[in-house]
Amino acid sequence: MYIIFLGAPGAGKGTQAATVAQKLNLAHIATGDLFRQAVERGTELGVKVKSYMEKGMLVPDEITIQMVLERLVASDCESGVILDGFPRNLRQAKALDSALAQQARAIDKVVYITVPEEELLRRLSGRWLCRQCQAPYHATDSPPKVWGKCDHCGGELYQRPDDTPQTVRERLQVYFAKTAPLVDYYNQSGKLLEVDGAGEKAEVSRRIVRAIHGSLAAS
Ligand code: AP5
Repeated sequence: MYIIFLGAPGAGKGTQAATVAQKLNLAHIATGDLFRQAVERGTELGVKVKSYMEKGMLVPDEITIQMVLERLVASDCESGVILDGFPRNLRQAKALDSALAQQARAIDKVVYITVPEEELLRRLSGRWLCRQCQAPYHATDSPPKVWGKCDHCGGELYQRPDDTPQTVRERLQVYFAKTAPLVDYYNQSGKLLEVDGAGEKAEVSRRIVRAIHGSLAAS
């Protein structure tokens, strides 16, 4: 099963993809996390992508598509995958479709998580992340048990450099210009499942799992 999680910055793609992947026994591939790990480690990929990420711009398609297609052939992806943050534009979507078609596979469902813009801004301004395992926290909504330390692995928590108000504005503009058209693209193929992303995280997870199961049962 191949599922895409689509939504604006701060919609909860990462939070929900991690939970739902565990529930459905799928691998979780988050392009933003892969890029941030590369930047953190100072790899060749990290050096190439750092400046795009800091400005809130998309990393060039050639780099992103190659990274994802290489990751998709890993053994943990055999039973299926949730793609979080990919594809981000039509070119990436079409490259993914044709790579899967070569293996007689296809995207099964696209979960489109919607959240009002003011809530996106509130979430991103209060977000903290674990440097080690990337688990997300929020300063007021979901703080860690010990301030500055990850509940899961004890890693150090930090604020993403692209969560500043100016870069968040840029990321939202990029989202509406380049990524939002994917909603129509996947709607036309009957794969889109729109899910309300507002409310408690656990409730949003339940809505997503219900939507996936409901639509698989109907097809
Ligand atoms: P990426 O890391 O993918 O960032 P993004 O899409 O902007 O999404 P975010 O991670 O900001 O938000 P999210 O929807 O995952 O929300 P989260 O669950 O964290 O990409 C970063 C950069 O990498 C891009 O700008 C680009 O440069 C590059 N990049 C990545 N993919 C690329 C691609 N395919 N092509 C080219 N470039 C690419 O939640 C946010 C906060 O809200 C957290 O604090 C969380 O705890 C909180 N929260 C979540 N759910 C709830 C809830 N229900 N109620 C209250 N709070 C909640």
